[in-house]
Amino acid sequence: MATLKKSKKSAKPKITIKKKVVKATKKGKKMSGEVFYPSKQVLEEARLKDWDKLAKSAGKDLKGFWEAEANELEWFSKWKKVLDDSKKPFFKWFTGAKVNIVHNAIDRHLKTHRKNQLALIWESEDGKEHRNFSYYAMNREVTRMANIIKSMGIKKGERVTIYMGRVPEIVFAMLACAKIGAIHSVVFGGFSVDSLAGRIEDSKSKLVITCDGSFQNGKIVQLKSIVDESLKRCPSVENVVVVKRVNNEVNMEEGRDHWYHNLCEQPIAEGKCETEQMDSEDPLFILYTSGSTGKPKAILHTHGGYMVGTYATLKYCFDIRDDDRWWCTADPGWITGHSYLVYGPMINGATSFMFEGGPAFPEPNRWWQCIERYGITIFYTAPTAIRGLMRFGDSWPQKHDLSSLRLLGTVGEPINPEAWKWYHRVIGDNKLPIIDTWWQTETGAFQIAPLPVTPLKPGSGTKPFFGQEAEIVDENGKPVADETEGYLVLKNPWPSMLRTIYGDDERYVTQYWSKHPGKYTTGDSAKRDKDGYFWIIGRVDDVIKVSGHRLGTAEVESALVSHPAVAEAAAIGLPHDIKGQAIYTFVLLRAGKVASEELAEELRQHVATHMGPIARPEEVRFVDKLPKTRSGKIMRRVLKARAQGLPEGDISTLEE
Ligand code: WTA
Repeated sequence: MATLKKSKKSAKPKITIKKKVVKATKKGKKMSGEVFYPSKQVLEEARLKDWDKLAKSAGKDLKGFWEAEANELEWFSKWKKVLDDSKKPFFKWFTGAKVNIVHNAIDRHLKTHRKNQLALIWESEDGKEHRNFSYYAMNREVTRMANIIKSMGIKKGERVTIYMGRVPEIVFAMLACAKIGAIHSVVFGGFSVDSLAGRIEDSKSKLVITCDGSFQNGKIVQLKSIVDESLKRCPSVENVVVVKRVNNEVNMEEGRDHWYHNLCEQPIAEGKCETEQMDSEDPLFILYTSGSTGKPKAILHTHGGYMVGTYATLKYCFDIRDDDRWWCTADPGWITGHSYLVYGPMINGATSFMFEGGPAFPEPNRWWQCIERYGITIFYTAPTAIRGLMRFGDSWPQKHDLSSLRLLGTVGEPINPEAWKWYHRVIGDNKLPIIDTWWQTETGAFQIAPLPVTPLKPGSGTKPFFGQEAEIVDENGKPVADETEGYLVLKNPWPSMLRTIYGDDERYVTQYWSKHPGKYTTGDSAKRDKDGYFWIIGRVDDVIKVSGHRLGTAEVESALVSHPAVAEAAAIGLPHDIKGQAIYTFVLLRAGKVASEELAEELRQHVATHMGPIARPEEVRFVDKLPKTRSGKIMRRVLKARAQGLPEGDISTLEE
C-alpha cells in the first residue's frame, strides 16, 4: 500500500500506485501472487508490529497467550484453570472464575476517563434522528432495561427473545439480559413468522422484547404483528415488551404486552441494578444458525471465554483504540453484530456507530455520508455490500470526505479480488489495509484474519489468529498439499468457541467434532498457499450464504412444503454476482396442481412471508422428480451441477 499525505475533502489526489508490489519479506523470501504491503504510516502507527513473534509464542503456549489477554480485563475472582479439556470436545475456559461481560463492556469504564466517552452513536434511516450514548448513559439505559426485565420475573439462566430493528434499544436489551444473567436469543428482524416462532419455541423464552415495527427502505416492517402471529404457537411466552419506533397501530394484548416507554416511567425501572456475578462458563447467549440439516441450531456462548475472544481479536486485528469510531454494518441479529457491533467494541472501550438503514436508501451514498458525518475511523462490512455499492460507480463515495478512515474490514463470505480492489482503491484511498476476517457464529470471534501490518492478498484472510492452527484435510482427515482444495478444520480450542448446541450436546459432537476426530469441522472448503495464507472457497454443506446471511436449505424447503400445492421441494445456492449466492428451488407439485408462472411467484412470496424476505428464492423451477439417494435423501449436489451445466460427479447412489 502506498503512503499518502492526508487528502482534503473532495480533493482526492490522482496518484499512480504500483498495483503489483512484490518485494522481499524480512527474511528475504518472496511471497507469491499479488501482495499489498502495509504503508509506512500503518507500520508506524501499529501497536503490534511483529506478528511472527507473538504468533510463535502463542503457538508454543496457547494457554499463556489467552491468560495474558484475560488478565487485561476485570474479573470478580480469577480462574483456577485457563483451559479445562478433560471432557473434550466440551472445552471449558477460565474455570472457577467469576465475571460478567457487562462489567467489562460498561461498568469498568465508569471508573476511568471512558465514562464520558461515547459508547454508541446512532442515526435513523431517514437521517433526521441522532442519538448518542456515553458509557455513563449506556449504563443508565442498560440498568433501566435490566430492572424492567427483572420485573417481568426473568431470572438468571432464563431465555429472552429479542426481535427488533437496528435501534439503540436492541443493544440495551442484549446487555441488560447479560447484566442480570439471563440468556439472550436475538432473532434477526428480517426473519418472519415461521423463523421467529421456531426460535422462540425452541428456546422456551418467557419474555419477548420487540418494537412496534422497523423501517426498511422507507417502508415499515410490522414486527409486532409478526410477534403476535408467532406467539399463537409459543405458549412459553408470558410477557412482551414493545419499544415504540415507527408509531404504527399495533395490537396490545392486555396483561401480556407492555409499552417500553410506559414501563420506563414506573418505579420498577428506577434504581441500581447490580451486575450479576456469573461463572465464567455460564451461558451468555444463544444464537440460532443454520447447519447442514434440519432446524436451525442454538449456538451457545458463555460470559468468560466469549468476552476474552471478542476483546483480543478486535484489539489485535483492528488495533482498536479509545478514540476510534468503529462502524460494523452488520445487524445485531447475526453473530457479527453480537461480537463486533455490541460486545467487542464496548469491551475495548471504543465508540461504536450503528445505522438503522441500509447502504443505498434513499441514495447509494448513504453509508459514505455517515462515514463523513461521524468521522468513522474503521469500517467493517460484507463483500455483498461492497459489490452492490461498487455497481453504482465511484462518484457516490467521491462526493464525500472519507479521510477519517484508517482501516477497512470485510466478513461473511469470500471477497472477490475485483471487489477487494475497488474497496481498497475507492474507499481506502489506495492505502488502507483491508482486514478480511474469517469466522463463524460458532467461533464467536475471528479465527483467520490479518493485522494491519500483515501483507495482504486480495481474497485471502491470511493466517490463523494467535493460538489457532488451521489445516486443510481430505475426506479421510489427512492434510493435503499446499494449493489443494480440501476441508478446513481448526486444530486448537479457543476461548470464544461455542460450548454446545443448546439442549443438544449430541448434535454438537456429531456436527463439529466427528468428521475429523480431535479437530473442529468448520463446514468450509479452502486452500492454503505456499506462504501459509488461507483462501476460503465456500460451504461444503447445505448452508447458503445469501448476501452474507446464513440460511439453511432445510428451512427454505420446509417453508415451501407448507404451501398446499407443494408435495416436495429442494433448495440450493447458486453463484450470484452481487449476493454471492442466491437461492434456487425445485418443486414437485401435488397431484392435480398445475405449474404456472403465477404459482411460481406465489411460492416465492410464500417463502418470503413465512421465513423472511432474505429467503425469497431467486427462482422456483417445477420438476416431476428430484434426484435422491436410495435412502431417500435429496442429492442437492446433483441439482447444483445440473443447474450449472457441470458434471454430476459420482451418482452411483442416485435413484430418481
Ligand atoms: C463464511 C459470519 C470467506 C464461511 C461471521 C463461514 C467467510 C460462514 C468469511 C459463517 C470470510 C465468514 N471469507 N468466507 N472472511 N467470513 N465466511 O455463521 O463460509 O454467519 O463458514 O458467521 O461464513 O457464517 P456465519
